[in-house]
Amino acid sequence: MPSALLRREDLLEKIDRSLVPRHIAVIMDGNGRWAKKRGLPRLLGHKAGADSVREAVKVCGELGVQVLTLYAFSTENWSRPKSEVKGLMALLVRTLRREADELNANNVRLRASGRLEALPADVRRELDRSIDRLSGNTGLILNLALNYGGRGDIVDAVNALLKAGAVSVTEEDIAAHLSTAGLPDPDLLIRTSGEYRISNFLLWQCAYAEFHITPVLWPDFRRQQLYQAVLDYQSRDRRFGGI
Ligand code: IPE
Ligand code: IPE
Ligand code: MG
Repeated sequence: MPSALLRREDLLEKIDRSLVPRHIAVIMDGNGRWAKKRGLPRLLGHKAGADSVREAVKVCGELGVQVLTLYAFSTENWSRPKSEVKGLMALLVRTLRREADELNANNVRLRASGRLEALPADVRRELDRSIDRLSGNTGLILNLALNYGGRGDIVDAVNALLKAGAVSVTEEDIAAHLSTAGLPDPDLLIRTSGEYRISNFLLWQCAYAEFHITPVLWPDFRRQQLYQAVLDYQSRDRRFGGI
């Protein structure tokens, strides 16, 4: 039976627990279209997307994924209408506040990747507070990509190395200065809403990531769709340039 027709329980049973991706990265796209389809303002799409975030965190924890990186705001997203940017930032603060208890109960650690210093002060404050509060946990690392751009991440890493006196750099040096330093590279990159592009996400880190692209819009991407993405990943033959 094609996996799209299987029930959640059956999908879960098919997942090989010894082959779960260590790091899943997600381009959470399609909130605006989800809202538009329903005649709702775009911000309600983002709000519905926050429920998918909660579910993704929960499922990744259950499956034993080590890192979940979510593309929440790109360096290019500042070009959206001011009201949408403001709404997204407010939603982020509210979600961090509201979810902190449950994240803590689920043993989740929090970190963030991106040019965080350019985020609004209240976002930074709430982020710092949540990161601090969850820092003693030992389970899933939830990494929020905020004001994140892959090219900027590489440029910032190189500039940090130059500032420290480097005259030439290695791949290891760059990796150690990216905003994902210390995290394994993503094994699985998911993009929702059917766009076939990377939109400046984790350019360096996704060198050998497996791509799962689904037409499902992010607010509709829930447990079953995540199981399907992991199963898709497990069906791949990862060769890393070998034979
Ligand atoms: C993704 O949904 C969320 C962010 C980029 C913050 P979009 O807002 O890009 O939704 P679409 O692509 O317009 O449907
Ligand atoms: C990518 O989605 C950024 C995030 C999900 C935060 P976009 O909607 O901004 O990407 P494009 O514009 O379709 O490439
Ligand atoms: Mg989009």
